[in-house]
Amino acid sequence: MASPASSAPGGVAVVGSGLIGRSWAMLFASAGFKVKLYDMEQRQVTYALDSIRKEMKLLEHSGSLKGSLGAKEQLSLISSCSDIREAVEGALHVQECVPEDLELKKQLFAQLDGIVGDQVVLSSSSSCLLPSRLFSGLVHVKQCLVAHPVNPPYYVPLVELVPHPETAPATVDRTYALMQKIGQSPVRLTKEVDGFALNRLQYAVIGEAWRLVEEGVVSPGDLDLVMSDGLGMRYAFTGPLETMHLNAEGMLSYCDRYSEGMKRVLKTFGPIPEFSGATAEKVHQAMCVKVPDDPERLAARREWRDRCLMRLARLKSQLQPQ
Ligand code: NAI
Repeated sequence: MASPASSAPGGVAVVGSGLIGRSWAMLFASAGFKVKLYDMEQRQVTYALDSIRKEMKLLEHSGSLKGSLGAKEQLSLISSCSDIREAVEGALHVQECVPEDLELKKQLFAQLDGIVGDQVVLSSSSSCLLPSRLFSGLVHVKQCLVAHPVNPPYYVPLVELVPHPETAPATVDRTYALMQKIGQSPVRLTKEVDGFALNRLQYAVIGEAWRLVEEGVVSPGDLDLVMSDGLGMRYAFTGPLETMHLNAEGMLSYCDRYSEGMKRVLKTFGPIPEFSGATAEKVHQAMCVKVPDDPERLAARREWRDRCLMRLARLKSQLQPQ
């Protein structure tokens, strides 16, 4: 589809217009970037543009639209594209958002590798595929990295930047600056590691949550409260390391006071759970009491969660550290 943005240099191409592609398109447009949204399914792009239009209007109405441009101006920056060459032409950044399938992504990056020049950054939204598996052997490997967002990216700003061993430092620097420019909160991993940082932390928490429920120490509902009404309240503002620093007279004082206790407790952690069988049934039942697992109730709860995150994002922007 022709559009005023289709031949603009310095724009962004978003490849894959599902949940994450739509969010990236909105974020880039919020900072004034021209975005070309490409999908192998033309119907999917049409649907994506329609849902972006609706969401931007709602966000504008509730005062939550990001950036200084209005919804109409932001929308005019996003155009759909049914040809991948046309989508990446003139782009300085390509954000890949196709499903989490190694072979599919490898094929796509090989195709992009044959099309792009030396100036563009090729960035994957992959949640857990390692850059060495995605980009090895590409001519433009120096220009490739993973930029892993967190769902929903419009309200949760973290983006993990994970380089391939051959990624040029300038590629990471440029992407870091771009993420900041669109209001996201980038973090750099200096090398790839399975699960990146976010999922390693998340899985450590899930593992211990599961063990505590499996051993009957705490009910599934109470376990969730430990996080949502306890640790999570702090962690929305200060991470685990700063929490240590603040909970004593600085980090060294915390280590002095609590390291023996931490090591004693950590030694009692059990093996990796199976996440199946009777415990899975028990946790499932408990979750269904709170949120029945029919599609409508799950969707309604996700909407509620996203509204909470939107309010939290606003609160965080008002409460800058002193
Ligand atoms: P999705 O399934 O909602 O969207 C994928 C889109 O890619 C679809 O519109 C599909 O038509 C399109 N597509 C498939 N093959 C294509 C191709 N060869 N060329 C162009 N388009 C193609 O997937 P979703 O959830 O948006 O995930 C995208 C990526 O983002 C995945 O790698 C996922 O792991 C990652 N991610 C997802 C998160 C989530 O919570 N959904 C969070 C963080 C990252």
